[in-house]
Amino acid sequence: MNDPHQTKLTTGCIAAVLPAAGSGQRFGSDRNKLFAMLGGKPIWFHAASRLAARPEVGRIMMAISEGDEADFRGPFAELVNELGIELVRGGDQRSDSVRAGLDAIANDKSIEFIAIHDAARPLVCDADLAAVFAKVAETGAAILAAPVTATLKRQLDDGNASLTVDRSELYTALTPQVFRVDVLRCGYDRHRGRPATDDAQLVERTGYRVALVHGSADNIKITHPEDLRIAEAILAR
Ligand code: C5P
Repeated sequence: MNDPHQTKLTTGCIAAVLPAAGSGQRFGSDRNKLFAMLGGKPIWFHAASRLAARPEVGRIMMAISEGDEADFRGPFAELVNELGIELVRGGDQRSDSVRAGLDAIANDKSIEFIAIHDAARPLVCDADLAAVFAKVAETGAAILAAPVTATLKRQLDDGNASLTVDRSELYTALTPQVFRVDVLRCGYDRHRGRPATDDAQLVERTGYRVALVHGSADNIKITHPEDLRIAEAILAR
């Protein structure tokens, strides 16, 4: 159950955790896809700088793989330092990478909330950040989400039949996903490796209610090379 909790967001009370320890597999690259350039800067830098611009964000932790450490501490070091990013070691699963960020703020009493944002989402807008931050102050758990616009089908009988699914209550989960520190920690402490596709799912399993905040569908995740071309077009707009 949720506490009826209204917290005023103070300057620096949010730690942003950016999981960035994935690979370039689906992107078809032998390097981390986050190193691809968008408007002259790597993808991860856009994601981090949008969070860094918010006064509520006091720390930024980026979870990186062992293999990428030389790049982040070498050629990218200046950009990392420009945003005051703290590098932590990510893990095999995205949830391991988030956990590393959560552990890094364990003793920091100034942090009340954690905003988890895919480093692969470079286009989150400031208005959406403001909206999801305002909501988490009210509820303790809030995520950005976009209404589903496609017509959805459920396959039946090995594809020989199908049914249309009512999409009126369906949303695509985006990031940031923002939680009071104790709420997220409880979700992670109870996580025993059962598959989960986002952080909100771990929190839902504890019984805590996660609020949806309508976010812009422009906040795409770069997965395939064509996503980068779409992102270039959105950025140029
Ligand atoms: O692979 P996908 O794009 O869905 O991953 C979402 C985000 O999670 C990316 O920013 C990726 O770098 C990160 N990730 C991670 N650790 C993993 C897998 C993915 O930090 N083990």
